[in-house]
Amino acid sequence: MRYSLSFHGFFSVYLGPSRHHFTVYTRTLHVSGLSAYLLIKAAPSLRLRPLEREASTTNRAPDITATIARQDTHTYTCGIRAAGMSSGVALTVPMPGKPYPTVGLGTFTIFAKTGGADEVCNAVKFAISEGYRHVDCALVYDNEKAVGDGIKAKIDDGTITRNDVYLTTKLWDTHHNPDHVEGALRKSLRSLQTDYVDLFLVHWPFAFKDGDDPFPKDADGNIIFADHDYVDTWKAMEKLVGAGLAKAIGISNFNKKQIERVLEVATIKPANIQIESHPYFLNDRLVTFCKQHGMTATAYAPLANPSRTWKSPDEPIIFDEQVLKDISAAKGKSIAQVVLRFHLQRGLVVIPKSITPARIKENLQLYDFDLSESEMQQIAGLDRNLRFFKEGMAASHKYYGFHDEF
Ligand SMILES: NC(=O)c1ccc[n+]([C@@H]2O[C@H](COP(=O)([O-])OP(=O)(O)OC[C@H]3O[C@@H](n4cnc5c(N)ncnc54)[C@H](OP(=O)(O)O)[C@@H]3O)[C@@H](O)[C@H]2O)c1
Repeated sequence: MRYSLSFHGFFSVYLGPSRHHFTVYTRTLHVSGLSAYLLIKAAPSLRLRPLEREASTTNRAPDITATIARQDTHTYTCGIRAAGMSSGVALTVPMPGKPYPTVGLGTFTIFAKTGGADEVCNAVKFAISEGYRHVDCALVYDNEKAVGDGIKAKIDDGTITRNDVYLTTKLWDTHHNPDHVEGALRKSLRSLQTDYVDLFLVHWPFAFKDGDDPFPKDADGNIIFADHDYVDTWKAMEKLVGAGLAKAIGISNFNKKQIERVLEVATIKPANIQIESHPYFLNDRLVTFCKQHGMTATAYAPLANPSRTWKSPDEPIIFDEQVLKDISAAKGKSIAQVVLRFHLQRGLVVIPKSITPARIKENLQLYDFDLSESEMQQIAGLDRNLRFFKEGMAASHKYYGFHDEF
């Protein structure tokens, strides 16, 4: 079996653990065999052309993060993994279970209950068609069923297998009781229509009253807290790995001290932390601390979520920043791409959310350009320690983490 791949942009090719042969020409790559496992650098536009008619549609790789275009009437999920390197930016980073794609689709605020189920499902399907292999969701986003539907549709149409996609969900604050953690994940798995998640995160360090109401309130409208210690919750999280329900486990929105407490008791250390990070709030000290402890760090709200419902008019948006406009013009890339690339070069994973096809596509095209050291510094200069996700309703909880500096 031979394929011809041609694409625009410079590239280099690595052959993974495979018995297959390949030949590299200037702009065309010939691959022999099924399941060729390739790492490709900077392949913004990839074209796959069968050289023999019996090209198989069952030819799959464990991890596809590049856009694989279709030609003629054939649709191919070929054995290509665009996990190459561009200036030290890998398309995946190692994690327990399987490699973690450095760009994923965020899904927050595409709530199913507000009529967004189709939007979520369509965004996931489109993203997978465009080459995304990483989706981030959470129980509290009320979109696990829609995310699961989207993934299932792409499995059913042969684009991917379950193993091809990196799926993250999160334990909500009302399920911190260690006796409830496994049940909560099992419920999420039913919605997601899968036997396991690749990454399961403790969404916040504090707990709300046990139960199915995600925001239990007293007569005055205040959230009813629970005082489950996140360290005990973590011990219950560890059991999920042994049970095969989560390939990796991690945390989100924990501060340094809280991470240290988890590390003290952990037999399985958190593999990942998901935290707010964008040009106005780099969160660099926490990122550095987490990396020192062997955790991958994922930036949420990487574009400083310009459409968050609680945004006040005086708060800045990245799309108005002159420095970003200038770099964008110089690079021939959008402001969103510049900012996402900035995070990648900081060594972060990004999970930009979009339901807009053109943006979903654009947000994955980050591997074919570099930001210079000077450009990186100019973007970092926008930092104002401006946190947008404060979760103020929990500010008086003893485990609220954002009173500390980091
Ligand atoms: N762990 C946590 O506590 C936590 C908290 C917040 C978020 N998250 C995760 O992180 C993900 C990302 O964060 P986020 O959704 O808050 O913010 P974000 O990704 O920074 O921003 C999303 C907003 O940016 C717009 N956008 C996306 N791509 C764009 C582009 N190329 N050009 C212009 N606008 C663009 C989207 O619009 P359209 O959709 O209309 O295109 C959407 O309004 C979430 O979806 C969620 O999965 C986790």
